Amino acid sequence: MKTKIIELLKLNEDHIITGTDIAKKLNITRSYVSKVVALLKDEGYNIEIINRSGYIYHDDYQVINIEKISKRLTNKDIFTITVLDKVNSTNTYLKELTSTDNTKIQVVIANEQTNGVGRMSRHFVSNRGKGIYMSIRFKPNFSLETTKKVTACVSVAIAKAIDNLCNTNVSIKWVNDIYINNKKICGILSTGSTNLELGILDYMIVGIGINLYHQEFPEELKDIASSIYDETKVIVDRSNLIGEVLNEILKALETIETNDFITTYRNKSNVIGHMVELSMFDHTEIVKVLDIDDDAKLVVEKDGKIKKIYSGEIQRMRLKIWISK
Ligand code: BTN
Repeated sequence: MKTKIIELLKLNEDHIITGTDIAKKLNITRSYVSKVVALLKDEGYNIEIINRSGYIYHDDYQVINIEKISKRLTNKDIFTITVLDKVNSTNTYLKELTSTDNTKIQVVIANEQTNGVGRMSRHFVSNRGKGIYMSIRFKPNFSLETTKKVTACVSVAIAKAIDNLCNTNVSIKWVNDIYINNKKICGILSTGSTNLELGILDYMIVGIGINLYHQEFPEELKDIASSIYDETKVIVDRSNLIGEVLNEILKALETIETNDFITTYRNKSNVIGHMVELSMFDHTEIVKVLDIDDDAKLVVEKDGKIKKIYSGEIQRMRLKIWISK
C-alpha cells in the first residue's frame, strides 16, 4: 500500500490531494491513509500534511529512491540493489549473505547504521538520512595482486562522482579518504574473503560512507570530519549521487588492470610533497611523501632512505606555532 500511496502523491507533486480522495481511489479508509503517510514520512519522504485532511508530496533529495537510482545507472542489469531502513552495518550485512549471484554486483544501502564501522575498527558516524551508507559485494575477475588496488581505484571513482554532481574538486588522502577543504567527507572500507586453496578472492566488500548533509559529529571528530553541504552549501540528491557513484565504480573496476585511475589518484592526492605522520602496524614515524607509485603504494623518504608503503594510515602534519608572551 505504501507504494500505491506514494505513486498517487507523486502524480500530484506539489499539489494537495485529500485523504478522502486517496482512500476512495485505493478502496481503503482515511485513517489507514494517514497511518501509511506517517510511515512514509518516517522513511524520509517529504510529505506535507495540510489541516489533517490533505497531503502534498514534494520531491525529496534525501530519500533513497531505487527508481531514481536505476534511471541514472548506465548498466542497471549488473547490480542487485537492496535499500534498508536501518542496519547495524551494510558491510556486515553483505558479509553475512549466504547465497549470492556472483555474476551481479550486490549493493546494499541503508538510511541509518547503528554500528557503522570504519578502518582500524573505528566507529563510523551514520546518522539517519544524513549520508550515503552503502556497500558493494562482488567477485573480482582480476588477479589477487590487482585486488590490492581496488580501494584506491574506488576512491577515484567516488571522487569523480562527487565532483560531477556537486561541482567540487575533492582531494584524496592516501589510501582512501575523500576531503573537501581539509575536512574528511567520505571514507571507504574494503574487506575480502580469500579462497586459500585457489589463491583468489571469493568476494570483496567495499563499504562507502559519504557525509552529505549537516550533522553533529562527536567532539573528537569536529575538527576533522564534515559534510558536502557544510563545506560547499551544495545539497545533492542522495539517489542521484548513489547512481553516479555506482556508474563510476563500474567504469573504474572495468579498467583497473590498465592503471588509468592512477593519474587522477596522484593529481587528487593531498599528501604528495607533504610531511606526514605514518602509522603502521606497530609504530609511527614522520616521513616525507614523495609520490604514489603505479600500484598505489606510498613512496616516502626518511633520513635519506626511500621506501614504498602498501598499507598504513597517515596524518598530515599540522604546523604548530607557539607564541611566548
Ligand atoms: C573509514 O573512514 O574509516 C571508513 C568508513 C567506511 C564507512 C562505510 S559506511 C557503509 C559501510 N558500512 C560500514 O559499517 N562501514 C562502511
